[in-house]
Amino acid sequence: MTGQTFDWMGRRISFRVGESIAAALDAAGIRTFGPDTLGQETRYFCGIGACQCCLVRVDGIVREACITPAKAGMQAETLEAHHD
Ligand code: FES
Repeated sequence: MTGQTFDWMGRRISFRVGESIAAALDAAGIRTFGPDTLGQETRYFCGIGACQCCLVRVDGIVREACITPAKAGMQAETLEAHHD
């Protein structure tokens, strides 16, 4: 069942209810989520919120993509995409 989408770097990503951001991005073929503050590429790794390897910014707040459920209409982006 699809139909719900969120925004990733200007791209519309479909997801199933209950799916994490990381899983939805992975299903869309997006396996790395941009560099972290140390310049290392973030990605899905532990899947349980422990390693902080998958940090992204969701509606302006830093979150673990692997344990954060996707929500319709949210704006998700790489950590570096946000400047304020
Ligand atoms: S993959 Fe380890 S915190 Fe998300």
